[in-house]
Amino acid sequence: MIPKYIYDIPSLMSLSDLDSIYELVNHLPENSNILEIGCFLGSVTCTIKEACNNSNLYCVDIWSDETHNSYMQGYDRKVIKKDITSNLETWRSNTNHLTNTYMYQMNSMAAEFDTKFDFIFLDGDHTYNNVRAELIKYSKYLKPNGYIAGHDYGVAPCTKAITEYATNNGLAVWTMKDSVWYYKPYKVPVA
Ligand SMILES: C[S@@+](CC[C@H](N)C(=O)[O-])C[C@H]1O[C@@H](n2cnc3c(N)ncnc32)[C@H](O)[C@@H]1O
Repeated sequence: MIPKYIYDIPSLMSLSDLDSIYELVNHLPENSNILEIGCFLGSVTCTIKEACNNSNLYCVDIWSDETHNSYMQGYDRKVIKKDITSNLETWRSNTNHLTNTYMYQMNSMAAEFDTKFDFIFLDGDHTYNNVRAELIKYSKYLKPNGYIAGHDYGVAPCTKAITEYATNNGLAVWTMKDSVWYYKPYKVPVA
């Protein structure tokens, strides 16, 4: 169960999105390495660590103080009209109780890691070219049984990049309750 404090963090995720991420991460093995791109103010960061608290979580965001003028969007969250910004200090204060969580303030296409990941969650720059480039780049960082997931399936540029990559790589796109998606290999029929 997601601890209730997470629902109070200003977020662009619906409650169903956070539940979906919790469900996906909760099944990961002990000591998993996880990468989150686009951490904003920490609602997903906290959800991931609460679902798999002995994981190593690598967090990448430019934290450029980009302003959003409504938050808690999503069909099952009320929309609050108030400016919030993607501020690093706010992310830090919302996440400083978490252990083994590492912050990288940089563009996702510039980040490099010397580890492979069990789970990668993409929610950074949502343009078609960037999502496409992230999928190509970060799929190389997956462990053999690791998987890649993200937010905003249903937002046209993201959907286009996600489905194209799936088609080109023999993957099926699975979606959760709201706009969280992930890839699975196609099932091979048993003869
Ligand atoms: C839609 S918000 C993510 C919402 C977040 N998952 C939440 O819990 O509310 C997108 C985030 O991606 C970050 N971002 C945008 N472009 C980026 C890039 N090229 N590399 C890394 N982060 C980026 C922004 O700073 C912002 O915090």
